[in-house]
Amino acid sequence: MNYTLCNDDFLAQADRLADRSVDLVVADPPYCLGKDYGNDSDLMAPDEFLEWSKAWITAVAPKIKDTGSIYVFTTWRFSPEIFSFMKTRLTMVNEIIWDRKVPSMGGTTRRFSSVHDTIGFFAKSKNYFFDLDAVRIPYDRETKKARTRSIFVGKKWLEIGYNPKDVWSVSRLHRLHHERENHPTQKPLAIIERMVKSSCPEMGVVLDPFAGSGTTIEACLKHNRQCIAFEINPDYCSLIRERIGRLNGQPKLGL
Ligand SMILES: C[S@@+](CC[C@H](N)C(=O)[O-])C[C@H]1O[C@@H](n2cnc3c(N)ncnc32)[C@H](O)[C@@H]1O
Repeated sequence: MNYTLCNDDFLAQADRLADRSVDLVVADPPYCLGKDYGNDSDLMAPDEFLEWSKAWITAVAPKIKDTGSIYVFTTWRFSPEIFSFMKTRLTMVNEIIWDRKVPSMGGTTRRFSSVHDTIGFFAKSKNYFFDLDAVRIPYDRETKKARTRSIFVGKKWLEIGYNPKDVWSVSRLHRLHHERENHPTQKPLAIIERMVKSSCPEMGVVLDPFAGSGTTIEACLKHNRQCIAFEINPDYCSLIRERIGRLNGQPKLGL
């Protein structure tokens, strides 16, 4: 399986994509948190950020097939405005909470510590592709023991596993995490893999407008999906090429 990586501003290049050509969009844009991505993309004022968010959503929505869908990462601070806007164009399927499993720590004393990201899952139509069996979670022995009453025996769901819930507890990638690349907001592979496997058919096309360290590309290549990705920072594009090279057995540079 191959991928296409464009070192470009997604908004400036979105027109190059044909309408209704993408099965799935995985969008992890800057969150308006002031992160340093080697550019000023995360330094917008809140109003400007919301206008920019509406612009890229408007650009990406027509690219999704009628059976397609989109996941958008954001924070609790902006999800109300962003999701309301998305509802004018798409059907909301889920709000997913990514519990980053942040260990207890000091920090804020005037409110509760925020330890989650918000992910909006939207579809182009009610007829969207969704392969639950690809992402079921197997029951462990203890759970199975608790389901030994005769009404449960032989039930398909007990054998093939349960439907992941809408709270996803997956550790963030701290500095020493084995997946960690040199990118400040890299997402765990397990999260993107679940999106790709459940929401894009095999050999289908995934679009990532904000590729970062290339997690979506890696997930697609591992699971036989095509990937088109945009990343504005040339250094991150080099990082992605090196990361994907390692999948094919090339050594890690600089070690
Ligand atoms: C939150 S990070 C994505 C992280 C990625 N999901 C990963 O797992 O590594 C957002 C990325 O979007 C890039 N970016 C910001 N504005 C962009 C634009 N207009 N077009 C393409 N990429 C952009 C930033 O340079 C940054 O690397």
